[in-house]
Amino acid sequence: MQPGAKKISVVGEVVTVGADAGARRSGIEAKPLKSSVLVVEDDPPTLQAFEQVLASQGLDLVTEASATAALQRVRESDYAVIFLSERMPDLDGLATARLIRQCERSRSTPIMFLTCTDEDTAPGFRGHEEEVADYLLKPVVPEILRAKISVFADLYRSNAALGREIAGRKAIEKELQNSAQKLRALTAHIQSVREEERTRIAREIHDELGQALTGLRMDLSWLEKRLPGDLTQPAAKIRSMFGLIDDTIQSVRRIASDLRPQVLDEEGLMGAIKLQAREFQARTGIRCKVDLPDVPFVMDQERATGVLRIVQEAMTNVARHARATRVDIRLRLDAGCLVLSVLDNGLGISPTALRSPKALGLRGVRERALLLGGRVAIERADGRGTSVRLSVPLHVQATPGHDLCENTA
Ligand SMILES: Nc1ncnc2c1ncn2[C@@H]1O[C@H](COP(=O)(O)OP(=O)(O)O)[C@@H](O)[C@H]1O
Ligand SMILES: [Mg+2]
Repeated sequence: MQPGAKKISVVGEVVTVGADAGARRSGIEAKPLKSSVLVVEDDPPTLQAFEQVLASQGLDLVTEASATAALQRVRESDYAVIFLSERMPDLDGLATARLIRQCERSRSTPIMFLTCTDEDTAPGFRGHEEEVADYLLKPVVPEILRAKISVFADLYRSNAALGREIAGRKAIEKELQNSAQKLRALTAHIQSVREEERTRIAREIHDELGQALTGLRMDLSWLEKRLPGDLTQPAAKIRSMFGLIDDTIQSVRRIASDLRPQVLDEEGLMGAIKLQAREFQARTGIRCKVDLPDVPFVMDQERATGVLRIVQEAMTNVARHARATRVDIRLRLDAGCLVLSVLDNGLGISPTALRSPKALGLRGVRERALLLGGRVAIERADGRGTSVRLSVPLHVQATPGHDLCENTA
């Protein structure tokens, strides 16, 4: 405690553990709920009046006799109200009030002048309401002092409680943001593991089953050539077996391609989208037009896979829900971004479906777009149908805080 400082009473302290902990975690300093009053004055009867009133109200009294010491105090602690003598040995009251205002901590602490001048004789704070809230005449009348102080103490307590609540909420908000970020990182991880797994299974199906079926077909062909010409029934059986083997080869190719389109690895995103559109049209009978950029572009496998999965989900939705007769896929390059739109001429997506938490396919599209550092807009098109518009940077952008292993308590 500094010389000249006096602590009268410490009563009525309120401790709110949750808010404090929250405030600490969020790095926000919350004001203490117990209020203190700073009195800068050296007149003994005035100080005595303060001691009596503050003790009865359960408030801390801190006294200083000079402006310099008072300024040091306001830098160190928060006060509910500051009473300043109009005249101090080192500086006048108004100049001190201005310096107190300049200090970050006491920028909005109410300041009261202690003055001997009567109200009618124009007290020194008139015209300086920004610095000085009010004044108190000396000799101090305890009832008036009590009334004024209780207003400021209540105000301080409410502000401090509010500050704590805000700090607590900010801490919760930050924790929520952290969780969302971790969840996103986890989603990214799961998706990449899933893609790896699909690629592996697709390769195994394609290579192992594909080779076995080709071998089987060759053996059958060998058998057919050696079959005596008059055995019509076995010959018919062999033809039907050829049909079955060819269908199975097609199925194996389709399953492998659905799992991981090989064309994506071989020809890139544009080739994969063209193939996707061709197969979609053949399968559904919905006319599918693709409009691609003239210039080729480079995009890494992971991002290209992400974009293709979005196109696949959008097209599956057209086939499943839109009742469309036509779908337009358009790809453009714009300022380092790939801009893709899938537009159908169907019923148009409903606002309920757009908002529905059960729309997991759409959620997946949005999540993927976010992971690619891009944006997606899914909406009912102007005239008719649904539009899915995606914009993603062609190359990976640095995104902070996506570390799965990040471990905050
Ligand atoms: N192209 C579209 N046209 C009309 N409605 C659509 C279209 N795409 C999505 N929807 C609506 O949005 C809903 C949510 O889609 P989605 O999240 O992909 O889930 P799912 O396809 O499994 O139903 C669909 O059930 C459908 O009602
Ligand atoms: Mg869907």
